[in-house]
Parts: sequence; structure tokens; C-alpha cells
Amino acid sequence: MKIVDLRSDTVTKPSPEMWEELRSLDDSKIGDDVEGEDPTVNELEKKAARVIGKEAALFVTSGTQGNLVSLLSQTKPGDEILLEELSHIYKNEVGSAARIGGLMIRTYSSNKGVPSYDQLQKLIRDKEDIHEPPTTLFSAENTHNYHGGAIIPPEIMRDMKDFSNKNDLKFHLDGARIFNAAIALRIPVTEFTKHVDSVMFCLSKGLSCPVGSIVAGSKEFITNARRYRKMLGGGMRQAGIIAAFGLVALEPVWIKRLEEDHKNAKLLAEGIRSYDFPINVHNPQTNIVLVELMKKTSIFKIVSELGKEGVLSFNISKEKIRFVTHYGIQEDDIELSIQKIGQILGKYLTK
Ligand SMILES: Cc1ncc(COP(=O)(O)O)c(C=O)c1O
Repeated sequence: MKIVDLRSDTVTKPSPEMWEELRSLDDSKIGDDVEGEDPTVNELEKKAARVIGKEAALFVTSGTQGNLVSLLSQTKPGDEILLEELSHIYKNEVGSAARIGGLMIRTYSSNKGVPSYDQLQKLIRDKEDIHEPPTTLFSAENTHNYHGGAIIPPEIMRDMKDFSNKNDLKFHLDGARIFNAAIALRIPVTEFTKHVDSVMFCLSKGLSCPVGSIVAGSKEFITNARRYRKMLGGGMRQAGIIAAFGLVALEPVWIKRLEEDHKNAKLLAEGIRSYDFPINVHNPQTNIVLVELMKKTSIFKIVSELGKEGVLSFNISKEKIRFVTHYGIQEDDIELSIQKIGQILGKYLTK
């Protein structure tokens, strides 16, 4: 049976060009990265810094590790940080900011990742009051996973930066999928990242590398982040073996390929929306399609039955099923998925 895996863009496998890059390595291209001696990692970090528009970059094991080293590098235990209430850092990173960073977390609500500044301002602690922990960092997620790959446009990023400056906060961007945002709006990725102090982006999602993420910011920030990466067990020695894939992933032609995923997401959304079921199919801005069930039913059974039919998806809440398009998903996979989704939703939603 044909399997169409739409659970996440993390399931992607490397492209032929990436395998080729790996095969081109020899002993001279790898070394001990903890000592800064892996030429391939050094090349990747240099390239990543240039592409994302920052002074320096660091190769980390995962997005989760990248977010954590960014927080640890820019805060002290006991500080309070502002996280969006549905953000990956808050919901899905095992509370590491609190457990490892000793940070107090205050969440803000938003409209698809965009907060109200009146509300945000009220969350800032009084610096003069010795009873209160200092608020020292603001974080945003772009594109926003739980808001269906929603884009925070550059002008809003600039407002966020102004808010952060005004309140003496560091501004961290969880940009796991920031290249999706740039490609969807057809603007340079630096239009987003120029507003932040630190950014994490994933090589292992739409860019389809098997492992790894990048953290970027000022040289001083990266010196600090390198120390925290080591603390978290992220010193990877001959890591050029995995960094090589990233060199290909950061080529403009590969970043531009994300357009295909966005096109497929639109096709999928239109196809599912054509059914007359009690569902709300969110308009995908990038590569994530959210289907909200408007009738009480078992989402677990729907996701499980879809899986048995070969269409893998993920229930991100009790009402919403998430489908993510990525490298390896073709237009005919989308057609097949629309047909299977119609079949299963019909079974549960038209009774
Ligand atoms: C928005 C966002 N941030 C961070 C991460 C963490 O990345 P990783 O799975 O590499 O730890 C994810 C992973 O899905 C994500 O969606």
C-alpha cells in the first residue's frame, strides 16, 4: 500500500545532491568540532550566518537544543521570559526553560502568533520592585506551527523588536520554518531576522536534512551559545558527516523548492474543503494544513483509520488534524490523500 506521510516535514530524507555532498567528504573535510577543527561544520556555520544575515552561527543537534541554548545564553536563572501560549518552546520542549534554565515563563496570547502590545506591556514586570523577577526575553515563532504555519510578516517583527527594545528585552525567534515564511512572501529571509537578537532555524524540516538546526546572532551571543551547547551534550566531534547535508540545504535553489510544498498544501486544503462535511479547513499560508472538526467525534479514530488507509497525519488538538507537505510529497500523493480523507471523514462526520 502506498504511504503518504503528512505527519510532519521532519520525516524528510536527504536529496540525491545531499548524498553526493556526503560522498565527497574525506578525512581532510572532518575534524573535532568541539575544538573548532571540523572544516565542514565551520563552512556550514559561515554559510548559515551569511544566509540568515547574522555575524555568527552555530550548528546544533536539534531545534529544541537550539532554542534552549538561545534562552540560556541570554538570560539568568530567576528571570522571566515571555512565550506565546501555543509556541513550541512552551508546549513541546519538555519545560526545559524552567527545568534547565531556571526561568519563569509567562505566556502571551496572540492572533496567529501576533500579540496585542497593550496586553504584552502589562506582562512586563516592574524593574524597580525588588519583589518581582526581571522580564528579560521575548520570543516569537515564525512560521507558527500550532497556528497552521502562519506567517508573522516583517513589519510585525519590527514592532516586536521595538517592544523588546523599549522594555530592554532580548528578542529570540523560533524560526524552525522561517524559510517557509520568506519563500511564501517572496522576500529575503533577512527581512525577518534583521529584527531579532537570536534566531534558531531547522535544517531537518522543509530543508530536508536528516539532522540538525542552526542558531545565529552576534559573535558574542554565539560564543556563549557554544558553551551552553557543550553543557547540553551537543559537542558532536566529527560532525561534518551530518553538517555536509546542510551545505546543500542552504543553496538558494533548495530553499526555493519550498514553493512546491506550499502549492501542495493549497491543493490539499482546496480538495478537503470541496467536501460537504462539518469541517473548517484553515487557509494554508505555507506548508501546514489544519482541518478543524466542527462536530463532536473521535479525532483519534479518524487519524488512526486514515493511517490504516496509508495517509499519516497528526492530531494537534482534540479538534484539529494537521497535514504537513514536504520534500517527497508529489501532486499525485495529494490527490490520493484527498480521496482517502474524504472517505474517512465521510464515515465519521455524516452519520
Ligand atoms: C516551531 C518549532 N520549533 C522547534 C521545533 C523543535 O525542533 P526539533 O524537533 O529539531 O527539536 C519544532 C519541531 O517540530 C517546531 O515545530
